[in-house]
This record gives sequence, structure tokens and C-alpha cells, in this order.
Amino acid sequence: MSPSHAELVDRNKTYTFASWTSQKAWNPISMVRAEGVYFWDADGKRYLDWSSQLVNVNIGHGNPHVIQAIQKQAESVCYAYPSIATEPRARLGQLLREITPHDLSKSFFTLGGADAIENAMKIARLYKGRQKIVTRYRSYHGATFGAMTAGGDPRRLANEPGVPWIVRVHGPYPYRSPIYRTGTQEEGDQIVVDLIEETVQFEGPENIAAILLEGYSGSSGIMQGGDVFWRGVERICETYDILLIVDEVMSGFGRTGEWFGINHYPFVKPDIMAMAKGLTSGYVPLGAVVVTGEIAGFFDDNVLWGGLTYGAHALACAAGVANIEVYRNEKLIENSREMGKTLRRGLMNLAEKHTSVGDVRGTGLHQVIELVKDRETRQPLSGWNKPASEPMRRVAASLREQGMSTFVNWDCVFCTPPLIVTQEQIDHGLDMLDHALAIADEYAKA
Ligand SMILES: Cc1ncc(COP(=O)(O)O)c(C=O)c1O
Repeated sequence: MSPSHAELVDRNKTYTFASWTSQKAWNPISMVRAEGVYFWDADGKRYLDWSSQLVNVNIGHGNPHVIQAIQKQAESVCYAYPSIATEPRARLGQLLREITPHDLSKSFFTLGGADAIENAMKIARLYKGRQKIVTRYRSYHGATFGAMTAGGDPRRLANEPGVPWIVRVHGPYPYRSPIYRTGTQEEGDQIVVDLIEETVQFEGPENIAAILLEGYSGSSGIMQGGDVFWRGVERICETYDILLIVDEVMSGFGRTGEWFGINHYPFVKPDIMAMAKGLTSGYVPLGAVVVTGEIAGFFDDNVLWGGLTYGAHALACAAGVANIEVYRNEKLIENSREMGKTLRRGLMNLAEKHTSVGDVRGTGLHQVIELVKDRETRQPLSGWNKPASEPMRRVAASLREQGMSTFVNWDCVFCTPPLIVTQEQIDHGLDMLDHALAIADEYAKA
């Protein structure tokens, strides 16, 4: 007999660690089967996967094309060490050159997002012969040592002071940052740019290898700058001869309705792009760092000091190739854009109905709602970097009870379903949110 939900949870808790939580507080959902936008726990309860797990299962669960590609690859070569040439690795590198913007053209494969960021920073530092990397507050880049320092949200604080060569700057957050208090988004974005430029000057541009930014802000709460911000960043990089590393780990592969978040700003020319998550939709772990022809050329004669036993894993590369085929054949980027509009409309309707909704942000199937106690003062329902308040805990519990699995963080509820989601499934998700928000409204000023 297969174990019940309670048994499964008990054994997981006894023998394994959970991340980002004290162990007693871990109260997981179980999963024994998954298909499309749904999964089932060990007692047969169905959940709508409203966050694509960790915003990575972009193509949905159980896609037969990807499963068959992994099976087929396993029958010929499961693993070759990273200095050996394989077909899926070559093919995936070729495809990434096709789908990434501008001159991004050569890939270094890793195991996931954090080590893609580690290697992106390493490549930038080796190439430029400079030490510092500039990152923004309210960002996330992974939990390995350097990547965690690069992150600009409180998840990094347990790792302080981290590596010494990260410099943080303020970033766009029109809803709350004081930078935006007195003006338009464009005016605020310009002040952010001016502050970044000043920091670059204070830090000495000759010491700065790269500016590292999420192509579209993600797990910190989707706080994104507009054209003015990105034009300014592009200009600073050009003026001071600094590289731009774009982190597309979360915002890549159709999440925002474009192949990559940075595609919303076609004038931006990234020098290095990091990716993971949607690259394989989590079917097998994989990440990549893609660099321009110019940076690739540097390493023709200079050693690339890095490598991972499982880098360019054959099964993972085969899963990556098959994923890109699915994005193309099933027109998932287009579906993300279209369903994103439906999702946005639905969230705006909820915002009209529920006084606890302070802000709705994002684009495509990459959206978040931020909850408040008071719309006028914008007093948060829980508070940034505070343990979840009673109302936020009740909202999360209600969603789970109704059969929705999603990512609830501080004051934000993430709405990031798989890119295969249909209108009907979005409506179902919005219904569940509607019920949960009625609870939040009890704590919000009418
Ligand atoms: C923007 C971004 N970068 C990097 C990472 C780290 O990726 P991983 O968890 O695969 O190491 C994440 C994970 O959420 C992310 O959202």
C-alpha cells in the first residue's frame, strides 16, 4: 500500500531537512502524481499549481515529449564527464544561441540557478580583470555563498558579510520606495539610475566588473523598472565600460510573455545571461551562463577557471532541448502573453473588490498581489522580512485548504501558473483567491 499523506510527511520530516525554515515549522503538502497544472497529494487531494512549483515548471507537469526525450537519452548516454562532447549539449547550446537576444552565443552549463550566477560573476571578473559586482537591494540570485551575497533581500543576512566584492544599490520599487514618493515612475526610475551612477563613481568604475540584475524582478516581489531605468543602466555600462549580467533564472523561458524578461527592453544588450528553472522546467536540474561572442573569444586563449562534475549533464541537456521544442511547438510564449492579460484583468477585478489588495504587479504569467491593511497609508498586511502575520497565515491556509499551491511571501501572493494554463483554470484560481482575500479584508480598512 502506498503511504498516506501523514506518513509521508512524517518520514520526510524525520529523515530530511527542509530549506528556509526551522524544521518544526515545516508543514509540507505531499505530492505523488502531477499532470499539467495540477498535482495530487498522497491522500488524493488535488492542487492547482498556481506557482509552477518554484516558478520553474513552465511547461506544466508530465509533458510526454520531455519525458520521452529524457528516456531516449538515458538509453544511449546518461552521463559523460564535462570535457566530453555530446549531442544534446551541442544542440542545446545551438538552440540557446537562437533564442537569446543580441550577441549572446556560447553557453557554459551548470546544475541550477545559483551556480549559474556564481559562474556568471566569475566569468565577468576573469574577463574584465576587475573585482566588484554591483547588485540591487530587493533581488535574489541563489543560496550558494557568492550568489547569496549578491542577493539584495533579507535571505542573504544569515550569510553576512559574505564575499567582499559585492556592492548593492537601490532599485526600482514604485509602490514603496521613497525615491518614487513625489513623482512619476519615470522620474523615480531616473533618480534610481542617477544613484547607481553615483555609486559606480564612488566605488571606482575601474574596479567594477559588472552590474548584475534580474531581467524581470522575481521572488523579492516583482519590483520592476521601466524603459527609463533600463536605458540608464545600459548607458552606465557603456560609459564606464562595465558588463551587464542579466539573471533570467526566474523570468526566462516565457514566464513574462517573452522568451526572456529583458526582451521587454529590446535596446538592452546583455553581455552575460544566467538561466535555469524554465530551461528544463525542473524535469532534470540544469542551469546555463550564456555570453557574447566577444567574451567567448577571450576564453579561446585564456583558461575558464571553473567546472562542475555534473555540468552539461546529458539527461539535463536532452530535457533542455525537448523543453525548447515544447515552448515552440505548443506556442507557450504566446499563451503566456495572452493568458497573462486574462490573469491581469482578473487580478485587477479582485483589487477593485478587496480593500486588502494594495498593488498588482508583473506581466505575462509573472504576477503578484501585495496586500495591505490600509490602501491610503500602504501599511503592509504582514511586513517585509517579518514572520507571517495572522492575516497572512490565514490567507495562505485558506488557499491551501481550497486546493491551491502557491508561493506566499511576506505581503505577496504569487500568481505564476504554468504557461499551458487555460482561461478556465485561471478563473478557478481567481475564485480561490477571491475567497482568501475576503479573510484579508477583515483586517483591512474599508
Ligand atoms: C532570479 C533568480 N536567480 C537565481 C536563483 C537561484 O536558482 P536555484 O534555486 O536554481 O539555485 C533563483 C531562484 O529562485 C532566482 O529566482
